[in-house]
Amino acid sequence: MMRPLVIGNWKMHGSQASVESLLRELARPGEQLPADVVVCPSFVHLQQAIGLCEGSPVEVGAQDCSAQDSGARTGDVSAAMLADLGCRWVIVGHSERRQYHAEGDELIAAKITAAISAGLNVVVCVGETRAEREAGDAHAVVAGQVRGALAGQASLGGIAVAYEPIWAIGTGLTATPDQAQQMHAFIRAQLPGQKGVETNRVPLLYGGSVKPDNAAALFGQPDIDGALVGGASLDAGDFRHIIMAAE
Ligand code: G3P
Repeated sequence: MMRPLVIGNWKMHGSQASVESLLRELARPGEQLPADVVVCPSFVHLQQAIGLCEGSPVEVGAQDCSAQDSGARTGDVSAAMLADLGCRWVIVGHSERRQYHAEGDELIAAKITAAISAGLNVVVCVGETRAEREAGDAHAVVAGQVRGALAGQASLGGIAVAYEPIWAIGTGLTATPDQAQQMHAFIRAQLPGQKGVETNRVPLLYGGSVKPDNAAALFGQPDIDGALVGGASLDAGDFRHIIMAAE
């Protein structure tokens, strides 16, 4: 059995004061948690978060990285810079990056390569829109995103995939445990690599309105290995409940 992985994506929220109060609650030194736990604050709060998580089981990740190692890329942050700071994880291909920054599979694949070479673990996000689901295209869209992002990877080590149906993000609508399980099993079958050996070790996270009251049912599904949590990860009590539901 894989150890569950629960990641909080704080998106563009927070201040130094809120980062401090959230992590004083969440990142308790020496505590044993039933899941691997990662928080992903904005770039400007990474260093503070890394300091506050020291000695606790909580790791810190970034919400994006550049596909380039270094150079004249104003405003960008490289994977090597994140690793140097003490980040262990990076999210790539989030639907909000795809939507607001026009990121496509090719760029996302290059970001994964850059992150893995820098020694980071990567969460690559995939998921369909409501219109794509209603048109019966959800599987084709997700399969294309998985293959497009991972085709160039020689190994799946250090990679997790988050299924985030766009219609469930921040809407309060959640995929039912059955819908999510069905798509997760499908995603596992799309992964490149040795079926049943390498592919079974890739954590598949569900994201989209995960809350304390639906987390346990989602975690109970055989191909749901954890969660990528947005809104509920900004409340220490709610996020803690979600983490505990992984037990
Ligand atoms: O990356 C997490 C995410 O997009 C889900 O957000 O607020 O629906 O939990 P939320």
